[in-house]
Amino acid sequence: MPRRPYVIEEMISAKAIAARIEALCREIQAEFEGTDKLVVVGLLRGSFVFIADLVRELDLPIEVDFIEASSYGDATESSREVRILKDLRGAIEGRDVLVVEDIIDTGHTLSHVTRLLQSRNPARLKTIALLNKPSRREVEFSADWIGFDIPDEFVVGYGIDFAQRNRNLPHIGKVRFIE
Ligand code: PRP
Repeated sequence: MPRRPYVIEEMISAKAIAARIEALCREIQAEFEGTDKLVVVGLLRGSFVFIADLVRELDLPIEVDFIEASSYGDATESSREVRILKDLRGAIEGRDVLVVEDIIDTGHTLSHVTRLLQSRNPARLKTIALLNKPSRREVEFSADWIGFDIPDEFVVGYGIDFAQRNRNLPHIGKVRFIE
């Protein structure tokens, strides 16, 4: 299928993202102060840039793990099915866990993944998402920390793709089709 031409307009600069991450990390550090080890779980693939910047700003003993989920179905609440494509390498029972997501849209992915991880009895399970689109929610879900609430725009960059492209943009951009 031919690709419709588009341009990407900057929505959140790399500088604004870095400043927000710094502020969020102070809050995360306060929450997990004294932890023996925090397992920081990145939700693949979109979170890979955010988690890389986040862990380098966190002054806590951490371990990094990844989980990959994919959602299928016709986007209506009841038929949406989230499948785990790649599970964690390590056990999280009795551990402090922070799940890191790039964006919350309908809420299905994080709601499913946190339910799954909670069933493994971690000591504490917290969630953070860089972006949040509250207007798109289909299931109730609130992350413990949000970088930016955004309107329902088609966003790319900083790990987020458009048909697997543009994940390497250093900022968050908004896709605008030009015809
Ligand atoms: C995107 C995004 C979130 C999820 C959010 O992942 O990275 O994981 O969708 O949507 P939801 O709140 O409606 O569930 P995607 O399936 O595009 O995979 P990717 O992370 O590999 O790009």
